[in-house]
Amino acid sequence: RDTARVFGRIAHGAIIRTFAQQDVVEFADFSQLPTINALSNEEHPCQALADLQTLAERWQGALEGRRIAFVGDGNDVCTSLVHAAMMLGISMHVATPKGYELPDEVVDQAADVSQHGAGLTEFTDPKAAVRDVDAVYTDVWTSMGQEVEYAERKRKFSRYQVNDALMGLARPDALFMHCLPAHRGEEVTDEVIES
Ligand code: NVA
Repeated sequence: RDTARVFGRIAHGAIIRTFAQQDVVEFADFSQLPTINALSNEEHPCQALADLQTLAERWQGALEGRRIAFVGDGNDVCTSLVHAAMMLGISMHVATPKGYELPDEVVDQAADVSQHGAGLTEFTDPKAAVRDVDAVYTDVWTSMGQEVEYAERKRKFSRYQVNDALMGLARPDALFMHCLPAHRGEEVTDEVIES
């Protein structure tokens, strides 16, 4: 709070990359500065803006009615992609292992901000989730701060790797997306990321 108040007197805005989302909210409250979340445990909105800008370029602006599958962890990147996609009329299929789903409040928020009939559907089977989608997105299985869970997550997520067989179930022109840095051989194969 003290740091936030001091920054509030000397800066015009702040960009914060941290762990707890609450720290970003509290900084904004106490600094009274426009505060941009550059990644927290819960959300990664700047990543979603960049991803949707990329997709808008690749799809020449035709976003409404598209479908994106997110395969892996229902994490910060997945949350913000769901928020942004819903607002732009893009439906999301999210495939996660049990226990790694999107938080319930994010599922509710998705319904609240959805436009043009976009919907969020949750899956445990990655094959069912990627069927007929226009893009397949994945992220690391172990995010920053979760390193002690690495071995357990690697085991639980092994079925969620994005490989040629999985991409083969999406639309023939489907794009592959990853926020980076990627762990080749874990959440994505070399062949898919180089394709
Ligand atoms: N989910 C990852 C994204 C990194 C850009 C993390 O939070 O570490």
